[in-house]
Amino acid sequence: MSDQEPAFSGSDLGVTPLEELLAPIVGQLPPNTSLSPLRYDLNAGVPDRASLPAAKLSAATQAVLASDAAAALTYGGQQGYEPLRVWIAARAAATSGVAVGPEHVTLTSGSAHGLQNVALTFLAQGDTVIVGAPTYPGAIRTFRARGARIITVPQDDDGLDPAALEQTLNSLRSAGVRPKLLYVIPNYDNPTGATLPLERRQSIVRIAHQYGTLIVEDDAYAGLDLDGPPPPSLFALANGRGVIQLGTFSKTVATGLRVAWVLSERFIIDALVHMRFDNGASPFLHRIVLHFLKSGAYEPHVERLQSIYRERRDAAASALIEHAEPYARFRVPAGGFFLWLHLAEPLRADAVRAAAIARQVAVTPGSTYFAQGGGERELRLVYSALPPEELRDAIARLGEAMAAVAEGGE
Ligand SMILES: Cc1ncc(COP(=O)(O)O)c(C=O)c1O
Repeated sequence: MSDQEPAFSGSDLGVTPLEELLAPIVGQLPPNTSLSPLRYDLNAGVPDRASLPAAKLSAATQAVLASDAAAALTYGGQQGYEPLRVWIAARAAATSGVAVGPEHVTLTSGSAHGLQNVALTFLAQGDTVIVGAPTYPGAIRTFRARGARIITVPQDDDGLDPAALEQTLNSLRSAGVRPKLLYVIPNYDNPTGATLPLERRQSIVRIAHQYGTLIVEDDAYAGLDLDGPPPPSLFALANGRGVIQLGTFSKTVATGLRVAWVLSERFIIDALVHMRFDNGASPFLHRIVLHFLKSGAYEPHVERLQSIYRERRDAAASALIEHAEPYARFRVPAGGFFLWLHLAEPLRADAVRAAAIARQVAVTPGSTYFAQGGGERELRLVYSALPPEELRDAIARLGEAMAAVAEGGE
């Protein structure tokens, strides 16, 4: 179309505008989050840029193109490159003790896509899904987009509360409702940073099995252990039955790769593959990632990330104690990217957020993470993306913002 030509619109034909053709859900979902233009972005949950393994991925790319170009550059099938699935399954078998092979893995374009694949495969309009309050907004959107009814279960500093889960499932059962999915982030939760203790994991697996609800275990922050390894996964505790585990190389290699996987029992993986209409994820990227994984560089890279994020987490926690102690309570997370702040009376997240923006600091209000309301006194803060000295300055400004709001000035 030339610059002069007006854009086509339904109203040109004397019919109603084309915007009316959009599915109603398009207008009902909140906007996607984006990077902040402010000086300090404590909002976007992104990894440290300086530690991205660009040189190693460049070498892997050269090697793949030199040895396997035709296969790398041709459709690779819906389930994904088998040797990468073999690597993922072998690692999962070693850590979980569950006998899994490549047939139990399907590769997706990010775990966000894995979640969509799960939602498309299991959910129809009106089906019920259980999520934490709070939880990852990407999961809320994905389930909403399928027309699911979302029921929340409270989370505390130790993550999802099993007693509340049981109560919820019980009252749903009395009403004749069997929720299809229970979505949980057991390690270094987004947004709370909480890690479920072993006893809660055992209870959640028992309860979900008892009520016939499938667990979706999102392990997006796996490997970013800052205080040693977490307890066994829900997948391991359930011996691989009734659990769909989502994994990703986004946080330990690069978010831009979009290489991730789903691990589950055979009939579930087969159904997920059956419900894919995207011609599969990238066989080129699968080979690059596998080359990187096998080069011996992956484990030291993850250890380096752990020490970078440990230093940042500790810097953020001590800056919060120094600058925001009277205004915010928090639990130091054992891994991942996030600190979750509970604001003291009379502070409200929206007011603190606005006062922080005026000081060039972006933080995320808690309400973003609640599917059924809540979070007015909570804030999520990302410590992964900024070096310690910038984090300290950003948090000093955030503390000033809290003080200004508390004194009624803003
Ligand atoms: C809990 C959780 N799950 C899934 C994702 C999606 O990750 P990706 O699609 O990059 O694998 C994120 C990203 O922030 C996340 O926080």
